[in-house]
Amino acid sequence: MTRDAWWRDAVCYEIHPRSFADSDGDGVGDLAGARARLPHLRDLGVDALWLTPFCPSPLVDAGYDISDPTGVARDVGTVEDLDALTAEAHALGLRVLVDLVPNHTSSEHPWFRAALGAPAGDPARARYIFRAGRGPHGEEPPNDWCSAFGGPAWTRVPDGEWYLHLHAPEQPDLDWRNPEVPAEFERVMRWWLDHGVDGFRVDVAHALFKARGLPDAGPGQHQDPLRNHLMPYYDQEELHPLYRSWRALLAAHPEGPPGSAAAHDRLLVAEAAVFEPGRLARYVRPDEMQQSFNFAFLECDWDQAALHRVIEDSARAMESVGAPVTWVLSSHDSVRPVTRFGGGSTGMRRARAAALLMLALPGTAYVYQGEELGLPQAQLPDDRLRDPVWERSGHTERGRDGCRVPLPWSGTAPPYGFSTAAPSECWFPQPEDWGALTVRAQQDDPDSVLALYREALRIRREHPATGGGPLRLLSESGASHLAFDRGTGMRCMVNFGPGELLLPEDAKVLLASGPTSGGRLPADTAAWLSTAPARTGAAGESP
Ligand code: GLC
Ligand code: MG
Repeated sequence: MTRDAWWRDAVCYEIHPRSFADSDGDGVGDLAGARARLPHLRDLGVDALWLTPFCPSPLVDAGYDISDPTGVARDVGTVEDLDALTAEAHALGLRVLVDLVPNHTSSEHPWFRAALGAPAGDPARARYIFRAGRGPHGEEPPNDWCSAFGGPAWTRVPDGEWYLHLHAPEQPDLDWRNPEVPAEFERVMRWWLDHGVDGFRVDVAHALFKARGLPDAGPGQHQDPLRNHLMPYYDQEELHPLYRSWRALLAAHPEGPPGSAAAHDRLLVAEAAVFEPGRLARYVRPDEMQQSFNFAFLECDWDQAALHRVIEDSARAMESVGAPVTWVLSSHDSVRPVTRFGGGSTGMRRARAAALLMLALPGTAYVYQGEELGLPQAQLPDDRLRDPVWERSGHTERGRDGCRVPLPWSGTAPPYGFSTAAPSECWFPQPEDWGALTVRAQQDDPDSVLALYREALRIRREHPATGGGPLRLLSESGASHLAFDRGTGMRCMVNFGPGELLLPEDAKVLLASGPTSGGRLPADTAAWLSTAPARTGAAGESP
């Protein structure tokens, strides 16, 4: 039944609304701006879009600190704007996902205000995780847990109790064993489903339950992602019955308006920072969520052996539960690929090759706004940084703002068509040298990153071998290139260099991330080849 469901091979575009497009000239991107730019997504050729949080928020963590989970922040628009955006997206054949942030609320949420106004032991505190401290006067935090943003995960309130926050202190963690909490999130999901959304990206999906008794985590927290599933605040067993109940809720909720996903095909995608493939696969068992971001892929260096291993391991783990692998090269939380892979022309060549690698792999893929333009990480002045990581790391880590600057749409100087506001009024400043990176500058240039993404997505839609079909790795781990066949007749080859790679003689190049003259693939370049069906039967290929 779900073997050919839309989400199995969909490409989903992540929109960070405040940085996408501004319709009203206040320097902040908004839902109406996103709606006006939907033709960009249609021309790009994606299947869905995901909006990061747009609910009322004090914006301590870019909107992941929500004070009203069924509202729309004033600077971003209104519920009617969301309805209009959703309707128009559906009319263009695009599904719409919104973010669900169930691990924590903002400290400005009415529940947390009530908790602070109530005495220790009051039911108002029982929606969060308040505890007495350790030490003779309770002056030590209840345990050794650290915040993912640095520093302790506990903050003390004036009456002496401590509350837990795995992120910023302004993001108190909810107690998912309190029945009021799951009931509230069922209400929240139903609310957005009633507004026509096709599913949810579930924030910090691995963290909702904490081990009973809140045992110490020990040294080395947040240092080795492969150990994340062993932390007492992550990956608890109780998550799974909860996600089964959500999947059932989505499927049972009344059908949306025309153009929306069928109820049984509404999507849940887990943001689960669980790196052990077998543990990650548990989130996408047949009756749980359908997708979980493959962060191991996103975190890989430009390294054949590392990518080879992640591709093999994640394909195997997801196949064991019948789920698609969910590839992702960038997000609002990561350093832009061009920069991560070395910056400058090297970084650009590799980012282009990585795009072809990702989009050739079986399963689903997420593209973060600006990735299709090859934007590098922006360098922001200290006084414009907003990410709580900057303060909490004692100004040693600059945080994630450099991938969140507004998109350049047109023109040669900031704000590049993002807004009609003066550049100084914009939510983040944009670099002065992005004139060649705008959508307008790239759209008619066949060698642009935008053209590469568009063409890759077109072939992906049309070629019978792409999508959810099988993958056959042809290269050995540690070789200088990576090669795999998709179904019959399509091969992806990526050259990690330093030398050139000879392409198979009778192969026709469908698309390449760089020049392939003379049948040679330069270093840091990928190509999609059309191979005669007969050839794909031959094991072990040597170019
Ligand atoms: C997720 C979001 C990130 C946010 C964090 C806390 O990881 O992607 O942006 O800071 O959750 O909500
Ligand atoms: Mg605006």
